[in-house]
Amino acid sequence: MTPRIVTLPGDGVGPEVIAQAVAVLRAVTEQAGLSVEVEEHLIGGRAVDAGGVPLPETTRAACRDADAVLLGAVGGPRWDHLRGAQRCESGLLELRSLLKVFANLRPVRVHRRLADSTSLRSEVVRGVDLVIVRELTGGAYFGQPKHADRDRAVDTTVYTRTEVERVARVAFALASERRGQLVSVDKVNVLATSALWRETVDAVSTEFPDVVLEHALVDSFAMRLVQRPRGIDVVVTENLFGDILSDEAAVLAGSLGMLPSASIGEAGPGLYEPVHGSAPDIAGQNRANPYGAILSVALMLRHSLGRPDLGAAIEAAVDACIETGVLTRDLGGSARTSDTGAAVMSALSVRGGAAVGVPS
Ligand code: NAD
Ligand code: IPM
Ligand code: MN
Repeated sequence: MTPRIVTLPGDGVGPEVIAQAVAVLRAVTEQAGLSVEVEEHLIGGRAVDAGGVPLPETTRAACRDADAVLLGAVGGPRWDHLRGAQRCESGLLELRSLLKVFANLRPVRVHRRLADSTSLRSEVVRGVDLVIVRELTGGAYFGQPKHADRDRAVDTTVYTRTEVERVARVAFALASERRGQLVSVDKVNVLATSALWRETVDAVSTEFPDVVLEHALVDSFAMRLVQRPRGIDVVVTENLFGDILSDEAAVLAGSLGMLPSASIGEAGPGLYEPVHGSAPDIAGQNRANPYGAILSVALMLRHSLGRPDLGAAIEAAVDACIETGVLTRDLGGSARTSDTGAAVMSALSVRGGAAVGVPS
């Protein structure tokens, strides 16, 4: 059966990076003789402009029926006056909830060519290869009650044992396929939800005797992430901490524009999105870094389309482009968004239906 992909380019640089990611998806599947159906829908500010809501019913229905969803970014200054369910960001949260994608994988790999050009010393970042597993459908983002009046506002952090167990299992399974180390990050010295989190992660650890589990407090872990990131393999943490730590981890990779993500649930379509936002400061200038979006397509091929070989071909093509200096401005280069996508496509090498790595 032909896989159905729904694309939601969204706002700001979203459409610019998604255009390149879709072009790469078409190129790699064509080379492999695999057909895919790609259908674009509205989300975020463009959806609000068109019909008053950030996640229209047509988009919801299309996403529910898809094999995978590829999203750019939502939001921007034009829609910042909106409140509550009308906000662009609410549309994205609703989508994550609708698809029940509770585990958000955010891999951070430092390319050797970029190790000298981050804000940190190269010996700190060289060789970093970690994954943040962020709980995505619970915590402060979704807790009730949540409301605000003029002088008082309330957000509520809620976690259930089941919510922690299922994301912990994803993280342990991933760690056991990788280097066998898991750090669970919480704020157990203050938060009741963190006490439940820690106790539950400890209980799940008995199912994964090959994984070494460590607990860390989020404040000091935030420091360790930029001070000694090399020893970190897999991190599992709640929704809000994962959001903040993953942008911090982007510093290791050289730019927020480098990071892809995969959001998965028990069943149903996965949601794939670069970690960055709509970057209003550079939108419309053909200078956004599309690697995060392109690498999100690689994750889609791995996790939703059963083609890890094609995911690896895209990752190898991106590596080869970085190696030869195809770098957007955020990485200190001058390549345009569209040139970068074109370079990845010409570096792609899929032969006889099977992908081969690009020599670097
Ligand atoms: P942002 O991620 O949009 O931008 C932060 C900084 O990183 C900016 O300087 C930007 O230019 C840079 N940057 C981001 N992506 C880049 C790329 N691909 N290439 C080069 N540079 C890049 O975060 P922000 O400015 O705090 O938020 C802007 C808007 O985006 C807000 O409305 C926010 O809610 C929204 N947002 C959406 C998502 C999403 O849809 N998944 C994620 C984060 C933020
Ligand atoms: C992200 C974003 C979103 C989040 C916003 C836009 C709702 O920052 O995907 O990291 O906080 O989850
Ligand atoms: Mn974020």
